[in-house]
Amino acid sequence: MSDATSSTTGKRRVALGVSGGIACYKAAEILRRLQDRGFDVVVLMTPGARRFVTPLTFGALSGHKVYTDIFEGDNEGADFRGAFDHVFLAESTDLFLIAPATADCIARLARGIADDFLTTFHLAVRSPVVVAPAMNTRMWEHPAVQANVRTLVSRGARVIEPEAGEMACGTVGPGRLADVAAIVETVVSVLDRPRDLEGRTILVTAGPTFEDIDPVRYVGNRSSGRMGYAVARAVRQRGGEAVLVSGPTALEFDGAIRVRTTEEMREAVMDRVVGVDAVVKAAAPLDFRPRNPASGKIKKSAGLEVRFEPTPDILGELGRRKNGAVLVGFAADTERHREFALEKLRAKNLDLIVVNAASGPDSAFDSDTNRASLIDATGRSEDLPTMSKEDLAHRILDRVAELLRHD
Ligand SMILES: Cc1cc2nc3c(=O)[nH]c(=O)nc-3n(C[C@H](O)[C@H](O)[C@H](O)COP(=O)(O)O)c2cc1C
Repeated sequence: MSDATSSTTGKRRVALGVSGGIACYKAAEILRRLQDRGFDVVVLMTPGARRFVTPLTFGALSGHKVYTDIFEGDNEGADFRGAFDHVFLAESTDLFLIAPATADCIARLARGIADDFLTTFHLAVRSPVVVAPAMNTRMWEHPAVQANVRTLVSRGARVIEPEAGEMACGTVGPGRLADVAAIVETVVSVLDRPRDLEGRTILVTAGPTFEDIDPVRYVGNRSSGRMGYAVARAVRQRGGEAVLVSGPTALEFDGAIRVRTTEEMREAVMDRVVGVDAVVKAAAPLDFRPRNPASGKIKKSAGLEVRFEPTPDILGELGRRKNGAVLVGFAADTERHREFALEKLRAKNLDLIVVNAASGPDSAFDSDTNRASLIDATGRSEDLPTMSKEDLAHRILDRVAELLRHD
């Protein structure tokens, strides 16, 4: 049986991609620590990595062939199967870790370039992807690198932020490869994540909406969109298909449907809701819009008095039209009102409501963390501690997956 076809040990397999930075020498330690945790590790090296360390080290440690050249396929077999190692290895991989990931390698991954074994394999593999960048501080902070990292995150990759510290080039600052133990722990936690949304489609809404007062002025709110984007990423990480409808935000998500007003969000959602398994409505669309937006810019001297009218109630409409889909809503209030949330849950025909604070130290708005309670239609309430929006997204999806199983 070919090495690439399956793990001959019956263990879960990590494909360790090594690209050409000075931190290459740490990849051997990562390999060993992954083996300690019971993984079968196969190494893929970029041409750059081969300038720093030889495949011999990784081959000897892993007990496997080291994949470095896309064209070196083994010709001995009559069927040339070795030539497709990048495909067979992808099929037998449980997680793809790139550590260290250079700026160049990250750029090629973000663009979908396939000019060596590692990057071709990246397009073929369907397992979770974890990326541990390492580079000089100025390189790490370059907008091009940051944009490429955001692209990978938006596709569901887990990026392990580099640490601050002194680097081989003498610079002090962020860019040093994350601690080996932290990388290994991340691999374990990502692999322990359930793939319970495979075959499921989840519609997610995120961000604020904007409503015009005149052609240059508008009203909005402080929603950053981070919660909804975290849910959409988490859906992908759990093997599901995420359809993200987003109000105006600076965040990125491959394939996001961008809208501006509450009415546009309503249309985008209603166009796509048929056939989805669940809807997570994390957006904070405006409840009111100016009644008569001016067609020309209102002069300062004229003063400004705006009369508002209600916008469409997207959640209420979804509750009436959900047709078996699991419906999750959010309640943000200046206090964590359980009664208010329960009332909303019932009025809108929700299956689950996420209650979070809209002000104070635990405010979910424009923040990386959230402290929430989850209340379901039976009235069961779970008070969660303050956690990252990514972790909260998974806690919400745990409940969605549970509700889908009981469908
Ligand atoms: C001594 C030396 C150290 C380097 N260290 C890094 C590094 O830590 N991170 C990085 O992104 N690039 C680093 N580079 C630049 C990469 O090696 C270069 O971009 C190369 O094209 C990467 O190749 P790869 O994508 O095939 O791995 C270094 C180059 C040299 C010569």
